[in-house]
Amino acid sequence: MRIVLLPGDGIGAEVCAAAARVLREVPLELDLEEHLFGGAAIRETGDPLPPETLAACRGADAVLLGAVGAAEFDRADVRPEHGLIRLRGELDVYANLRPARGDGVDLVVVRELVGGLYYGERGIRPDGTVFDTMEYRPEQVERIARRGFELARGRRGHVTSIDKANILATSRLWREVVEGIAADYPDVGLEHMLVDNCGMQLVQAPGRFDVLLTENTFGDILSDVAAGITGGLGVAGSASLGDGRPGIFEPVHGSAPDIAGKGIANPAAMLRSAALMLRHGLDKPDEAERLETAVDAALASAPTPDLGGGATTSELTDAVLSALRR
Ligand code: NAI
Ligand code: MG
Repeated sequence: MRIVLLPGDGIGAEVCAAAARVLREVPLELDLEEHLFGGAAIRETGDPLPPETLAACRGADAVLLGAVGAAEFDRADVRPEHGLIRLRGELDVYANLRPARGDGVDLVVVRELVGGLYYGERGIRPDGTVFDTMEYRPEQVERIARRGFELARGRRGHVTSIDKANILATSRLWREVVEGIAADYPDVGLEHMLVDNCGMQLVQAPGRFDVLLTENTFGDILSDVAAGITGGLGVAGSASLGDGRPGIFEPVHGSAPDIAGKGIANPAAMLRSAALMLRHGLDKPDEAERLETAVDAALASAPTPDLGGGATTSELTDAVLSALRR
């Protein structure tokens, strides 16, 4: 199985190196190849997603991605983040799964990933007004809703669909389409919730959620909140899936310039993303579970500074490797 590694920028490269170490120990024939992406690719080629990188991703069974972003590009026209948005669109990975587990919490955010505000028309009018637009087609909502209900079936059987239907037209479409899909899943419970209320509920009563189904921007924000109540960004992984291979597997966090280069980034988010890759991207649930268990054990025995511990990236990775060998 061919896996393309895209380290990207900042701690992306550090946690990707940890993932490569661990994946080499997993008893599967995994062929890992690294390619330029993000700010690192802009520096070498002027393009955050060079054609060779995109071609390699298209031909891969799975893409494992670190993070992108660097301060030097904050005001540039060509930005590392554009490469990420383009890659998701090119591979049409419309379903982003972001699990969050912790004390009494076991939920997964199912975020629409290739539509809405991040993909709509944007620009500037002659009078200086700047605009972004949010659009959804019914089919885009249908396919992500189906993913959400399918996933709920294998879990506790409950979907909470998040929108802002009291204000937004796209949200009213969202609600209508989700209700239509729900009819095909009578065994799954459905409730609708407004996004602002959901933000509060996630903080006050996160245990009530099973599957949170939502559009791109709301999902981006709510999944960081979900990460925040279950150990932080250092432990939150994600899977971005289309209808076939390859999926993209990446931590929720960014390039963390404040700690980049110090060797203290928590690699757990990346390693959990690698486990999601084994489970959802390569159909290897047993290997995925072994890796998840090893990461949990390592987090308990060798926590990094973001969790109040003193372990470095490589010490936590060592702990994962020794747990895997046990
Ligand atoms: P960030 O996720 O990089 O960092 C937020 C905070 O969490 C920082 O204090 C950081 O030190 C901490 N943190 C994140 N991951 C950690 C880890 N594995 N271990 C320990 N601590 C960790 O978000 P921020 O600072 O808003 O953005 C930095 C850059 O990353 C920006 O250029 C942004 O555009 C980019 N970004 C990229 C993403 C991606 O590649 N998917 C996602 C989010 C931001
Ligand atoms: Mg985000």
